[in-house]
Amino acid sequence: MNILAIETSCDETAVSIIAGSGDFPEPEFKTLAHIVSSQVKLHAEFGGVVPMLAKREHARNLIPVLQQALDQAGSLEKKPETESEKVSPELQNKLERILEREPELLQHFLTFITQFSKPNIAAVSVTRGPGLEPALWVGVNLARALALAWELPIVPVDHMEGHLLSPLANYHTKLELPVLALLISGGHTELVLMKSWLKYEKLGQTRDDAVGEAFDKVARILDLPYPGGPEIGKLAAQADQDNLPDLDEKLPRPMLNSDNLDFSFSGLKTAVLYLVKKIAKLDEAKKQQIAREFQQAVIEVLISKTVKAIHAHQPKTLVIAGGVVANQELVKQFKTKISQDFPDLNLLTPEFKLATDNATMIAIAGYFHTIKKDFADPDLLTANGNLTLAV
Ligand code: KG4
Ligand code: ZN
Repeated sequence: MNILAIETSCDETAVSIIAGSGDFPEPEFKTLAHIVSSQVKLHAEFGGVVPMLAKREHARNLIPVLQQALDQAGSLEKKPETESEKVSPELQNKLERILEREPELLQHFLTFITQFSKPNIAAVSVTRGPGLEPALWVGVNLARALALAWELPIVPVDHMEGHLLSPLANYHTKLELPVLALLISGGHTELVLMKSWLKYEKLGQTRDDAVGEAFDKVARILDLPYPGGPEIGKLAAQADQDNLPDLDEKLPRPMLNSDNLDFSFSGLKTAVLYLVKKIAKLDEAKKQQIAREFQQAVIEVLISKTVKAIHAHQPKTLVIAGGVVANQELVKQFKTKISQDFPDLNLLTPEFKLATDNATMIAIAGYFHTIKKDFADPDLLTANGNLTLAV
């Protein structure tokens, strides 16, 4: 069964198509198309994502990205001349209503739908939230339009569920419950437990900044280019390579020993700020040392809380997912810790290109919800910036 997925929750315009078979606990996936068009360069000028700009860019890029994805999957077929007539006035009316706030997207869509045939797809899945609401709406509205034009079911997906299931794209092992998931992205930091399939319980979360957010803010303090998360990782690795000594001053490990599974990262970021202010000459070597010490503080807190959750809930599988899992040092230290202390626990992380935002992970979540027939009414589907996976 082929699933098409659309992701526009932040600053990546993404469309993927996957072929899924089987079901939990041994599903199998093949990626037929994976296109991510990043707006990073555009937002870099502002030092962060500007929601209305993101929305505009999604509206501009979605149809080209969709066409690229269909092409990559070998499913972009021109309609025969005889069929490439205009859409019926009734359908056109409905489409105009759905896309009334995105006139540019509507024009692209009408051209696209008159030119190309319906592909071999069972459902259209789309990120409904959480994320930037104006950005989310563009994807949701395109999904509604596609579902209507192609007469397909529409499957709304929680972005964080997409991250959580992202490792399944490249593992063919049997997935064993309970699954403990550490979700670390630009907007979220949470420990989630899945005791029964697709049912989530939140064990702990950040009380202030998300991990990715802390990486980005510390990067700004160190004057690194946007987006900062990957830059911190690179600098920290450089410190190791150059054999730099540790900083004289250690940064705090916030809530390391607190008796719960919550996190806090804003104090750590502030500690970096104070440290930098004290340093007379912030040269490259100092930046590298600070990046490494900050990264290490984050890793230690994440490992410690995850270990606490493992002891409390005895999971059989540990998933680490979300943009920050692109940090290789973090994955390395988790792997070492888990293989030493919990050799029976199966650790799953997404392949590198599925760590940060993409639509393949949305297609995977969409596949499972298609099997369960969790379809939305295209007339009633809304975007929800504050959607939560678990309470
Ligand atoms: O999952 P994601 O792409 O978007 C959200 O759902 O938020 O995560 C983006 C976050 C950003 O804060 C980014 O700085 C961080 O993930 N990130 C990293 C690395 N690559 C991306 N953080 C640390 N090290 C990295 N290599
Ligand atoms: Zn994300």
